[in-house]
Amino acid sequence: MDPLQPRVAIVGSGLIGCSWAMVFASGGFQVKLYDIVQEQVTKALENISKQMKELEKTGMLKGSLKADQQLSLITGCTDLKEAVEGTIHIQECTPENLELKKKIFGQLDLIVSNDVVLSSSTSCLLPTKLFTGLKHVKQCIVAHPVNPPYYVPLVELVPHPETDPSILEKTYALMKKIGQSPVKLTKEIDGFALNRLHENKEGIISATDLDLVMSDGLGMRYAFIGPLETMHLNAEGMLNYCDRYREGMIRVLKSFGTIPDFSGEIEQKINQVCVHIGIL
Ligand code: NAI
Repeated sequence: MDPLQPRVAIVGSGLIGCSWAMVFASGGFQVKLYDIVQEQVTKALENISKQMKELEKTGMLKGSLKADQQLSLITGCTDLKEAVEGTIHIQECTPENLELKKKIFGQLDLIVSNDVVLSSSTSCLLPTKLFTGLKHVKQCIVAHPVNPPYYVPLVELVPHPETDPSILEKTYALMKKIGQSPVKLTKEIDGFALNRLHENKEGIISATDLDLVMSDGLGMRYAFIGPLETMHLNAEGMLNYCDRYREGMIRVLKSFGTIPDFSGEIEQKINQVCVHIGIL
């Protein structure tokens, strides 16, 4: 590893952790890939190596570095302290389980510096549930990718009410630097923007960012595969998907309000937004 390259840590080396590691390496960052068992880390590194070589062969490798150069930027470890040492950004990618994630952020809280960004990949856990009470809460944010982040660039940035605005800006700039399409949510809401796409009456995201959620996120995916195949591939099959995300899906669906009538004030408001962003 080049000691001068900025370093990031990925906590959890599963599906999303591996994809984030590849995205960061493609942007020239050093990556420490952490997991609890060595066997998983080894498997993850082998999987990344295989994928990158295939991508290079087919001319689809991201970034300006060759596959071998990118691979030399990624190392694995099973020691959390070693993983986060000297990092500018920590991307947590552990299973979607509130208690587990709280425990991990609690451990990180004890060992991180005062300027590192603590970011979670969570699909549907709210920042207030994850980060409230942490000493470093001002440095915490959700950066929710779309699976797989290597191919679909959208990332939803969701701050905790106490997140320092500079952390949101820093994360936004970092995501841009590694070729992702970040969008900013002004406040947390169940389902963020992606999973409640048409329900923006709360004003949680700008009109331009809402359109990006589709053009650089869901739209890219749905041009190739539909929602059922997506669910099946986003976990170890559909039953496992329901097992992992059932609670979150129910919460999001329950939080949808009444159906707007698309007339009067609402109709005028949508029209004004479209004029403003140049659609009409
Ligand atoms: P996964 O099950 O593939 O990977 C989770 C990894 O975390 C495993 O390698 C596991 O060994 C590791 N792990 C378990 N306990 C740990 C601990 N205490 N410390 C460190 N590592 C630990 O899960 P996946 O699909 O990668 O999801 C990770 C996160 O990303 C979840 O929060 C999920 O909601 C989110 N996400 C998932 C998407 C998907 O489609 N799969 C899309 C967007 C976000």
